[in-house]
Amino acid sequence: MSAAPPTARRQRVCVLPGDGIGSEVTDAVLPLFDALRLPIDLHFGAIGWECWRRDGNPVPTATWAQIADADATLLGAITSKPLKEADAELPAHLRGAGVNYVSPVIQLRQRLGLFANVRPVTDVLGDQRFRFTVIRENTEGLYAGLDFPSIPAELEPLLRQHEARGAAWQRDGSTDASVALRLQTRHGLARLFHFAFQHAREQGFDSVTLADKPNVLRHSGAFAKAIFDRVAADYPGIRAQIDNVDAVALWMIRRPERFGVVVAENMFGDILSDLGAGVMGGLGLAPSANFGATGAYFEPVHGSAPAYVGLHKANPSAMFLSVALLLDHLGHGGPATAIRQAVTQVARSTCRTPDLGGQASTTQVANAIIERTLQPGSPL
Ligand code: NAI
Ligand code: MG
Repeated sequence: MSAAPPTARRQRVCVLPGDGIGSEVTDAVLPLFDALRLPIDLHFGAIGWECWRRDGNPVPTATWAQIADADATLLGAITSKPLKEADAELPAHLRGAGVNYVSPVIQLRQRLGLFANVRPVTDVLGDQRFRFTVIRENTEGLYAGLDFPSIPAELEPLLRQHEARGAAWQRDGSTDASVALRLQTRHGLARLFHFAFQHAREQGFDSVTLADKPNVLRHSGAFAKAIFDRVAADYPGIRAQIDNVDAVALWMIRRPERFGVVVAENMFGDILSDLGAGVMGGLGLAPSANFGATGAYFEPVHGSAPAYVGLHKANPSAMFLSVALLLDHLGHGGPATAIRQAVTQVARSTCRTPDLGGQASTTQVANAIIERTLQPGSPL
């Protein structure tokens, strides 16, 4: 998670503004890097929909090289569209030629092996009542890609056995069905759980909750539990518990202060992490980080919000909090804390974007955050 403390070597950050408000909030946050005078060099790269429309490839080869050369990557947001629309927007010579659009975010996670999606949830708008982190598995689970529009021939024998045991799926006599499989590997779960407990230890949380559904998914749930229990034994100071994911969703709203680290497989984690953004007060405030085998990248949870483009009303706070996570990772904990404090102060002031009930513009909020980050007495 946290990298080594800053050394004499200058660090490289690859900045990929991307599409829509992604590039607007990136522009708004950039003056902060200059103002902080950290030993960091920014290298800008292209990613997203415009790259797709031009070349049929949303992550150009040059961008992969920039990411590989960097100590960390900062991403604004990208636009993704359904396959048909994606194909229709290609240049004529590429249209219908079998070039498939794959979301850059998914490409980054898969190619770089970034298995842990980290979403800190803090009480930015309130009185610091809660602070927890949702950690979502990024590479397997129900989103592993084993998703079929009909029953694959290989699975038919399994379904026939299932039916023989009295399962209800084929009652109307038809086999018109789709199927998706939840893939969980021992390796994938063990590294995820170690990451979650390590995060709890580093961030001072006293509990790790696995949000799963072991009362229904009995066998895959038991498989995960056995691995979770074994990993938990390596972290005796941290309370480990397994709760049903639906109950976790309820309590996240009712009593968010009861959580420390919440860890979950891909789909359950996807849902809970957006819920976490809701608990914070909206997408304009929610940051995220992706960690794994190679490198790390940081991005606001929100997307490119096409309807907001050019209106100057996107909240840049999620981007500032993503930069704070990036700076933590690069060993600059002081500036990271200063940014978090500044975001909190500004979010509680009258200088708010419309999503928080104010009338300030993206740039006004960004400048207020930068000013407060640098003010005397801040923990730089
Ligand atoms: P979105 O997050 O872009 O926007 C949803 C709504 O949330 C907006 O209409 C706006 O009301 C609010 N919102 C989001 N960010 C905000 C901000 N900074 N300040 C104030 N309000 C904000 O999600 P949507 O509309 O589902 O997707 C739009 C595009 O973004 C799609 O092409 C989608 O594929 C892409 N997307 C990309 C993501 C990424 O880059 N990681 C994540 C989610 C969506
Ligand atoms: Mg999501």
